[in-house]
Amino acid sequence: MGQQLKGEVEDGADVDIGRPQNRPYRTVTKGFVTAHKRTQAAVQGEPLFLLKGGTSPIYFAHMRSATLPRLDVNADAIRRRLLPHCRLKQGEVWQDKVAGHVVGCGDATDSSFVRRIMGESKARLAVQDPPYNLVMFEKQSTSQFVAWCRSWVDNSDAVLDDDSALYVWLGADQNDHFQPLPQFMSMMTDTKFTSRSFITVRNQRGYGTQKNWMAVRQELLYYTKGNPLFSVQYTDIPKILRGYYKEVKGTLTENMQRSKSETIRPGNVWVDIQQVFYRMEENVNGCYGQKPLKAIERIIFASSNKGDIVADFFAHAGTTLLACERTGRRCVTFDVDPVFAEITIRRLKRFRQSGKTGWQASNPFERELTQTATDIPSQTGQAQRKTKLICRAS
Ligand SMILES: C[S@@+](CC[C@H](N)C(=O)[O-])C[C@H]1O[C@@H](n2cnc3c(N)ncnc32)[C@H](O)[C@@H]1O
Repeated sequence: MGQQLKGEVEDGADVDIGRPQNRPYRTVTKGFVTAHKRTQAAVQGEPLFLLKGGTSPIYFAHMRSATLPRLDVNADAIRRRLLPHCRLKQGEVWQDKVAGHVVGCGDATDSSFVRRIMGESKARLAVQDPPYNLVMFEKQSTSQFVAWCRSWVDNSDAVLDDDSALYVWLGADQNDHFQPLPQFMSMMTDTKFTSRSFITVRNQRGYGTQKNWMAVRQELLYYTKGNPLFSVQYTDIPKILRGYYKEVKGTLTENMQRSKSETIRPGNVWVDIQQVFYRMEENVNGCYGQKPLKAIERIIFASSNKGDIVADFFAHAGTTLLACERTGRRCVTFDVDPVFAEITIRRLKRFRQSGKTGWQASNPFERELTQTATDIPSQTGQAQRKTKLICRAS
């Protein structure tokens, strides 16, 4: 049990904030708290806990584990609070002066925006991770979804070098004839791209274990244009099985003797990638579709050189941008949602300042969300001037 939220609390203590949910404890730093109460202040529908008390100016109860809810479903209230803190509006672009990355807020199907954000440059690689018919497309038909895909695929084509690679993450709905994967693949036959590989990334967690095979896969399609580079990649998984025999200079050899590496290649089934979950350092709270850095870095190492431009039209948590920063590529990325464009920029800056790849137990807007607590009116209508911090408890 955590301590009751009353009286002095120690550094790092777990405090019971009295919320009957599965995660009722929060870690506090140094603090002296005389009372707590639940408040409806700030935004309706968003449960907040107001911490107050103490007269010393140095008291505070700092809830370090403030997280954001998913920003796609029922998130209107929290989004209204975040939007004023987003530096980009639709059509705007942020230039990174340190490494030359570009982050924008715009629509992947808007060819003039895509041309503008790319300028004269051509990308060696595009890593596209559209929303797959889950939220924004739930009411649309598969054919509408695929027609929508066609327009950002054409825009990708326009910004890709003559010798380049296009990777597309796409879902397949097993309860609906695996749409939109086959329809998307079929649409691609009519483009300039050549199909090269159908990669499966194995998740650690799945669903549908009782009456079906557990769904643990993510699909990643690899297409090329022209004759792009491809650098063979290796996993950390040691070779343990001896295999096919071949005669070399009169001696029968097996694969372990002839191979260049002690570890296996990922091939087109990647089993060594940890999907992002909330306890991981790279987790970005609020993001619902974040891909693992390791997967994006593998793609980047295989299909681009240092200094190349990598495009990503669906930035979200800014994973491609961060992967480019870590691998010495330049990223041009954008998201139609200003909140995700902002998160993308903040993730890069945070990485540069702290070396951290995400916000485990925190969130990209923690500072603003806590600051807005200072002027929340009390029940008598007066400002709670002494209140230092408010923490969302969900
Ligand atoms: C699945 S997420 C991408 C995840 C990303 N690869 C990562 O690792 O963080 C899809 C993103 O596409 C954005 N999006 C949806 N429609 C878009 C559009 N028409 N143009 C640009 N971005 C769009 C959504 O706001 C969402 O952030």
